[in-house]
Amino acid sequence: MGLRLWEKYILLLGLAVLVVVGVSFVSFSSEPESLNGASGSAKISRDIIARKAIIHNFVSSVNASSGNADVEKRDHVRGMMQFAWNNYKKYAWGANELKPISMMGHSASVFGSGRSGATIVDALDTLFIMGLLDEYADARQFVVDELDMRTARGDISVFETNIRFVGGLLSAHALTGEEAYLTKAQDIADLLISAFDTPTGIPLALVNMRTGRANNWAWASGGCSILSEFGSIELEFNYLSRVTRNDTYSKKIERIRKTISEVDKPDGLYPNFINPRTGRWCQKHVSVGALGDSFYEYLLKEYVMSGKKDVAAKKLYDEAIAALEAKLLYKSAQNNLWYFAEMKGSRVEHKMDHLACFIAGLFALQSANEESTEAKAHALELATQIGNTCHESYIRTATKIGPESFRFTTDAEAVAIRSTEKYYILRPEVVEGWFYLWRVTKDEKYREWAWAAIEAIEKHCRSPAGYSGIRDVYQVPAEQDDVQQSFLLSETLKYLYLIFADDAVIPLDRWVFNTEAHPLPVVRSE
Ligand SMILES: *[C@@H]1O[C@H](CO)[C@@H](O)[C@H](O)[C@H]1NC(C)=O
Ligand SMILES: *[C@@H]1O[C@H](CO)[C@@H](O)[C@H](O)[C@H]1NC(C)=O
Repeated sequence: MGLRLWEKYILLLGLAVLVVVGVSFVSFSSEPESLNGASGSAKISRDIIARKAIIHNFVSSVNASSGNADVEKRDHVRGMMQFAWNNYKKYAWGANELKPISMMGHSASVFGSGRSGATIVDALDTLFIMGLLDEYADARQFVVDELDMRTARGDISVFETNIRFVGGLLSAHALTGEEAYLTKAQDIADLLISAFDTPTGIPLALVNMRTGRANNWAWASGGCSILSEFGSIELEFNYLSRVTRNDTYSKKIERIRKTISEVDKPDGLYPNFINPRTGRWCQKHVSVGALGDSFYEYLLKEYVMSGKKDVAAKKLYDEAIAALEAKLLYKSAQNNLWYFAEMKGSRVEHKMDHLACFIAGLFALQSANEESTEAKAHALELATQIGNTCHESYIRTATKIGPESFRFTTDAEAVAIRSTEKYYILRPEVVEGWFYLWRVTKDEKYREWAWAAIEAIEKHCRSPAGYSGIRDVYQVPAEQDDVQQSFLLSETLKYLYLIFADDAVIPLDRWVFNTEAHPLPVVRSE
C-alpha cells in the first residue's frame, strides 16, 4: 500500500483510538454480570438493552478497527461464513452438520442422533465476532429455545460435547454477557459429570444421555481413556466454576491434575492412553497429533487463561515439551524441515498429522507469554519451523491443500503416502498455526499463505450448497466427501477471518481460544 506520510499518521491515530475502545470493550465483557438476582421483567428488559449495547459496541469496533486489517480479504472470509451458514440454515437447520451436495442434514455419531445443532452452537461466536447479526440472532434463538442435549439418543462424547457445546456456549456468554448461554453451558456440563466418577478422577469418554451411564470407547486400547480427551476439559470447567462461583467443575480438574502429576512418565513422555481405574498407562503411543494434541495445548492455555497464576500447569507443559523435543523432534534429510514424529511402543513413526500442525500456533502463543528472551526465541523458532513444514505439506499437493497426515522417509518429504491419509476435511490446524504466527511476528508471508489456502478451498471445497471435504488432495479435480464439518464454522473460518482482521479483534492477551476456537477470557489481575 503506497500511503503518504500524513495518511500514515491518521491511520496510526485511528488505530490508537481503536485500541482504547477495544480494550475497554474487552474489559467490560470479560467478567459478565454476576448471577444473583431474580429475573423480573424490568431486569429482563434491562438485560436486553445492555445486551444490545454490548453487541452494538462490539460490532462497530470490529467494523471500524481496520487498523492493520486487510479489509477486502477479511470481508471475503465473512462472505464464506455467510455461504456456509446460509446453506446449513436452508437445508439442515437443527441437524448437527450439513451435507452440501445432498443438501440435507448430517448427524455425526459423537453427539448421538438427534437435533442438537452442533453447527449452530459452533458458529454462534464466529457469527458474533464477524458482526453477522441477523445470522447470529437466528443462532441465538435456536440455542435459547430449542437446544437440549437430553434429547440426544445413544452415547455422546464427553470431549466433543465439552469443547463444542460447553465451550461454544461459554464463549458466547463471555462475548455477549447473556445469562441464557451460561445456564445452558452449566446444564450440559452437568450431564457430563457422571463420566468423572472413577477411582482416579480421569473421566470416561462417553455418557449415555438416557441412562447417565458412562463408558470408554471399545477401540481405545482396551477401554482406556484418551490423553487429548481428558486433557481438554480444564479451560471450560475452570471458567465455568469461575463464572458460576461453584467449584464442582474445577474440583474435577484438580483430581485429573493430581493423577497426571503423580503418575510415572516414561522418559518424561505422556502416552496417549491411560486406565482410569488404575491410573496406569495403556499402550505406549505418543503423539502431538491425534489422541495427544490438545492435552499439551490446554496445559499452556490454562496457564495463560489463569493470568499466569497456574504455574504448576506451565511446569507440566515445559517438562512435557522438553521430553517431546528430546525424543520426537526430527529434521528431514532432504530440506531440513522440522517435524514431530510419533512413537508406537519403541518404534518411531516418521509421520505428522494435519492435526499436529496446531503446535506451531501453540509455540507462537508460548513465545508471546515467556519472560526470558531465550525462551521466547526458542519457542518462536519451533513455531516458525513447524509452521513452515505444514505449509510445505500444502504446496506439495495438486490442490494446494494439505493431507490428513504426511510422512518423512528417504523418498518422501511432507507428503502423504497411504491412500487413507490423503483426504482433507476442512480442518483448521494449519491456518490456526499461521494465525498465531501472524499475530506474533507480523510477517506478511502468513497472510499470503492463508490467502492461498482460501483460494484453494474456494476452488476445490466449494460445492453448490456449502463447503465439502475432499477425498484426495493430490487429485484434480477433487472428489468431494459431502460433509460440511461444524469446525469449519467455529475454527477454520474464524482463524482465517482473524488473520485478516485487526489485532484488536480478540487480542491474545485477553482471550484464550479453546481447542474448538471458542475464545474464553483471561483472568484479569486485580
Ligand atoms: C458492519 O459492516 C458491515 C459490512 O461490512 C455492515 O453491513 C454492518 O451494518 C456494519 N455494522 C455496524 C454496526 O456498523
Ligand atoms: C454446584 O453445581 C452442582 C452441579 O450443578 C450442584 O449440584 C450444586 O448444588 C451447586 N452448588 C451450589 C453451592 O450452588
